Amino acid sequence: MERLVISGGKKLDGKVSLQGSKNSALPILSAAVTVNGISIIHNCPDLTDVTAALKILEHIGCKIKREGHTVIVDASCANRFDIPEKLMREMRSSIVFLGALLARFGAACVTSPGGCEIGLRPIDLHLSALRSMNTYINESGGLLQCETDGLCAANITLAFPSVGATENIMLASMGASGETVITNAAREPEIVDLAKFLKACGAEIYGAGQSVIRIKSQKKLRSAEHTIIPDRIVASTFMACAASAGGVAAIDGVCMEHLSPVVPVFETTGCEISVNNNELIIKAPERLLRVKSVRTMPYPGFPTDSQAIIMAMLAKSKGTSIISEKIFENRFRHVPELIKMGADIRVEDGRVAVIEGVKKLRGAHVSSSDLRGGCALAVAALGADGKTVVDEIHHIDRGCEALEKSLSALGAEIKRE
Ligand code: EPZ
Repeated sequence: MERLVISGGKKLDGKVSLQGSKNSALPILSAAVTVNGISIIHNCPDLTDVTAALKILEHIGCKIKREGHTVIVDASCANRFDIPEKLMREMRSSIVFLGALLARFGAACVTSPGGCEIGLRPIDLHLSALRSMNTYINESGGLLQCETDGLCAANITLAFPSVGATENIMLASMGASGETVITNAAREPEIVDLAKFLKACGAEIYGAGQSVIRIKSQKKLRSAEHTIIPDRIVASTFMACAASAGGVAAIDGVCMEHLSPVVPVFETTGCEISVNNNELIIKAPERLLRVKSVRTMPYPGFPTDSQAIIMAMLAKSKGTSIISEKIFENRFRHVPELIKMGADIRVEDGRVAVIEGVKKLRGAHVSSSDLRGGCALAVAALGADGKTVVDEIHHIDRGCEALEKSLSALGAEIKRE
């Protein structure tokens, strides 16, 4: 079992290149199934979740080539529409293969997806949307058998702007006739990136990034090449590392527009942020100031995926900060581990964390419970006195490419054992 060993208390001074976005790469890899040809995907991060997506593509019959951060998917030979439970359970994003398989084959046989245990994570919105597009879905014993005698366009209003449901509808629409309209669609940058890929393949999509997305049917998608957007959540993780450890960090390859929901929070703590072309430089103050209130919201609100790392850095700030988690029911699993490191945090009603900033954190033996929670422990460890050992780092490897190498480049003392 691998673990990270971090010696804290050392100010950062370095530069790191930002990886491509996991949450963009995964739906785009499943979108490759809808193309009866070749998809060349650049800036695809090297993550265990990406490897899991490639395994699914291979199982379906696609040919895969991985050359550094470029993945080439030849889906012309795809010939099956089932995904075994073992592959489905490797990650949450496996569920967006459902829309892609329906578009390509008019059928899909999958099971409930796996992924980080951060809440109930139902898929009711996905399924009701696909049903309204003329899919018959039989759910029994965790198995989802889906069939259609022709996907139909539909007007779908989502009760919540779910990222995954929006992606599944967009993907299923690739095989539907007519115009599908998604109202209350997710507006995340990853949705815009998926639309950009599908458009490069010949799809007609309007309004991605806004609440209403219109998708016109496109019977045949062509081969295309696409570059994945930078990972805004990993960018905010590196920023939190600098804020927690102190010092200066340069992050190369950011998209500032995608970071607009998080930058004001860092500035409130006293961090100075400057941007030169696509390089962000963050300079931490001697001691961070508290942030009165942070609420996670769908984009362009503050991202739930940055909640844990912000909490970790605020643990040592001056004053009391309050974080409300509005997206997932169980996304404070990092709190007991931060408390082991000397943080003073109490959770009220499961959804609100009150962080009384302490002067010092101390190194401890802690364990990741999920991807972003694991990153939060690394953030706290960089600002803690002494040595921290972070276990269960397979969670971190799902979404952060070689975190120890990136943080070493920023000047941290960290190694993987
Ligand atoms: C995506 O998950 C991301 N994952 C998550 O990132 C991210 O936290 C989340 O969007 C919100 O931004 C990927 O892109 C692979 P949702 P997703 O559907 O699509 C409820 C990370 O750390 N809901 O927008 O699963 C759901 O329970 C991960 O990288 C339903 O009730 O998120 C949740 O409370 C973790 N029914 C809320 O909506 C449904 O059918 C948001 O979920 C679907 C969702």
